[in-house]
Amino acid sequence: MQVGVKFYTLHHNEKYFPDPCVFKPKRWLASQTPEAQINLMREAFTPFSIGYHGCAGKPMAYLETSLIIAKPLWYFNCKLASGRLWKVGGGTPGRTDGRGRPDEYQLYDIIAGEHDGTYLRFLTSR
Ligand code: HEM
Repeated sequence: MQVGVKFYTLHHNEKYFPDPCVFKPKRWLASQTPEAQINLMREAFTPFSIGYHGCAGKPMAYLETSLIIAKPLWYFNCKLASGRLWKVGGGTPGRTDGRGRPDEYQLYDIIAGEHDGTYLRFLTSR
């Protein structure tokens, strides 16, 4: 029997991530969280999946992330846009399907496929 679990579900399990809906990067710091809890979080943290079909680009993604995200954040101060723009991408209050949190950036899974051709040219038959 195969058993699967969605990353979102796992990453929002309070057993592993207390206050799972709160954006709290400091939860990973030893000064903020007991070591046993950090170890639990590490075991459950699987954004790149694991096993046979785990992400082949994980090292590259970490490299890109540290360069492309960390550098600008290090060199510049930034804050969320004011007015209507800060809400873009968030959940809609009142929704009861799990998309009701305005401060949670909403992701949608899409599986798509497309192709063009192959084209055949039929020649005269013998
Ligand atoms: C933050 C960035 C990334 C995340 C969160 C991510 C996450 C994932 C996840 C969850 C899977 C498994 C999909 C599945 O089970 O069907 C996967 C597969 C894969 N990823 Fe990534 N990925 C990232 C970046 C990259 C990059 C930069 C590359 C290539 C340069 C890459 C190449 C691949 C490939 C080739 C697979 C398929 C592995 C296989 O099926 O054997 N990924 N990725």
